[in-house]
Amino acid sequence: MKSPFKRILITAALPYANGYLHLGHLAGAYLPADIYARYQRMKKRDVLFLCGSDEHGVAITVSAEKEKTTPKNIIDRYHPANKAAFEAFEMSFDNYSRTSLPLHHETAKDFFREFHKRSIVIDKKAQQLYCLKDAMFLADRYVEGTCPKCKSTQARGDQCENCGTWLDQTELIDPKCKLCGTTPVVRETTHWYFPLGNYQQRLESYIAERDKRDGWKDNVLRYCEGWFKDGLKDRAVTRDLNWGVHVPVAGYEDKVIYVWFDAVLGYISSGKEWAAAHGKPEAWKEYWQKEDTKYVAFIGKDNVVFHCIVFPSMLMAWNDGNTEHYVLPENVPANEFLNFEGQKFSKSRGWGINVQEFLKFFSADMLRYALAVNLPETRDSDFYLKDFQARINNELADITGNFVNRTIAFIDKNFGGIVPKLDTLNKLDEEMIAAVKQAPSTIGELFEHYSFREGLMEVMNLSRAANKYFNDSEPWKTLKSSPERCSTTLHVAIQIVRSLAILLEPVVPATSEKIWKLLNLDIPLREDGWDSASEFRIKEGHQLNKPEILIAKIEDKQIDEIVKFLEGGDKPEAVQISPLKPTITIDDFKKIDLRVGRIIEAEKVPKSEKLIKLQVEIGNERRQVVAGIAQHYKPEDLIGKLIVVVANLQPAKLMGQESQGMILAASNESGILTLVGVQSEISTGATVK
Ligand code: 2FM
Ligand code: ZN
Repeated sequence: MKSPFKRILITAALPYANGYLHLGHLAGAYLPADIYARYQRMKKRDVLFLCGSDEHGVAITVSAEKEKTTPKNIIDRYHPANKAAFEAFEMSFDNYSRTSLPLHHETAKDFFREFHKRSIVIDKKAQQLYCLKDAMFLADRYVEGTCPKCKSTQARGDQCENCGTWLDQTELIDPKCKLCGTTPVVRETTHWYFPLGNYQQRLESYIAERDKRDGWKDNVLRYCEGWFKDGLKDRAVTRDLNWGVHVPVAGYEDKVIYVWFDAVLGYISSGKEWAAAHGKPEAWKEYWQKEDTKYVAFIGKDNVVFHCIVFPSMLMAWNDGNTEHYVLPENVPANEFLNFEGQKFSKSRGWGINVQEFLKFFSADMLRYALAVNLPETRDSDFYLKDFQARINNELADITGNFVNRTIAFIDKNFGGIVPKLDTLNKLDEEMIAAVKQAPSTIGELFEHYSFREGLMEVMNLSRAANKYFNDSEPWKTLKSSPERCSTTLHVAIQIVRSLAILLEPVVPATSEKIWKLLNLDIPLREDGWDSASEFRIKEGHQLNKPEILIAKIEDKQIDEIVKFLEGGDKPEAVQISPLKPTITIDDFKKIDLRVGRIIEAEKVPKSEKLIKLQVEIGNERRQVVAGIAQHYKPEDLIGKLIVVVANLQPAKLMGQESQGMILAASNESGILTLVGVQSEISTGATVK
């Protein structure tokens, strides 16, 4: 890429924190975004990769009502769970934020104030559906009816899931209140409207120009064309709800900003959070406000209108009145949907499997590989467990794993693990070397243009060619008959092993790391860079590590186990609990002195991944407590929290740091951990019993 860009900003759609992530989410926006981010980092480009949870809107409040709990409880359950699921899946986000943060509320309010100040948003009287029984306006998902476009009977107030149309709720045929099932009446209220129509012409030229420069996907272009053909209209960007970012205009504080109007700004807030966490609060502007940033927004196909029309027009509106200009997406790669065993993933029907559960059965790399070869890039695709097994066994294990293993094992056995010499090349060697030389640019070009499936296919073709090269060169024969030939073959083969580790990193990072370890190289994998995969950088005489199986094959019984798990009822939402401990008496319990404490200071314990050192106020006393929570909390987020401390625990030393007590935390089998606190303000030192 001869590129005018100096840095790359990548975002992936913010998933709603109202349910667990499933494989369909990963195949839609997240895996493609991560492959792209990892590839660009390997190309040594300056990358910022942002995401976070979308925690507002009716998606959240409806879930809360269903469970008879608060929206806050819903987001506090799913945000950490989804964050952990992404980590387990090896997503390489630079920051994973959440839109409930005050920082985000301020960002969204700033935009709204700006639009209000410049009279871009206008308040208008609006006819809205109102439920007499529930005494409320039925925003978005609170109402369901028949879609005027595709006639699906399950269209929601703001969008039809079936055909993707962004609806005005009054267009719904036969609307019904989602809470009580009655037919709502139409009542007047006031809302703020954003004049999308004013931006239509500029949006059309923007998309045409970016498409020419960066090649937009057909599905995305067709979808936008449809919108333009119908003509963009004013859209209400406020709602009569309690949950969300409150409208920062006097007299309208009881309304909130429409979830999509705040969620897209969550990308910017995530950048701000990242910058603050790195002690350079202005650094987000480098990525968001310099025109030599390439911004790529990865989404699923149901999000196209919000990212190609709504978000760019909001940014245009801001840019028109300000000297700081936000960059607009250079591309919005949207994937189609992934089905599971022939059916759509469905939370309500309990169909599918969530990410954390899948990863209890199989490694992240296995899942990443199987999803990547089958990404729904141009049409919906299917995930079948049997295919998954076949892909891993016949491709990743039999082709790549086998080549890596046989090469390292051969050198280990016949050359004492020392890389042999490259001697005179024959035709087979030359052809193989030519293929390796070409591979990074061919594969890179495909990744550059968001063809991840094809890019991975090329990596696998190189693995296949390498296996064939090994077979055709017959080193087990030349070992005796022509030792120079044999050492040349193995020298070439081990270089290809290194090249494959680099080329596979964006898709299967843990496998690449494993190969890198076997190669025993001094330089870290990610420092050598993508282009170096075309070069021979392992020196003759270099000592390799002992061979190890790279990828264990998936046995039938493992597939049977996961099938059994899936058949065992509505497991996707089920939580496993650890076995209970033996009964104790009240006197046993009374021996423990539990106190309320407040965290005053928090810092990571140097060289420890897990430990945070806390200074805790307990009444007039101050204690140092070391807690294993660094993988779940950032030190700065802990300050001020009221927690519960075991105050009479014998002091202990952890990583050289004295710990004078223990703080209570709840954790479950899925690796989720949350601190135990108190429900309202109380003085520190108060007893807990
Ligand atoms: O479809 C969804 O899950 C939305 N929460 C995506 C939001 S993307 C962006 F706007 F934040
Ligand atoms: Zn429809």
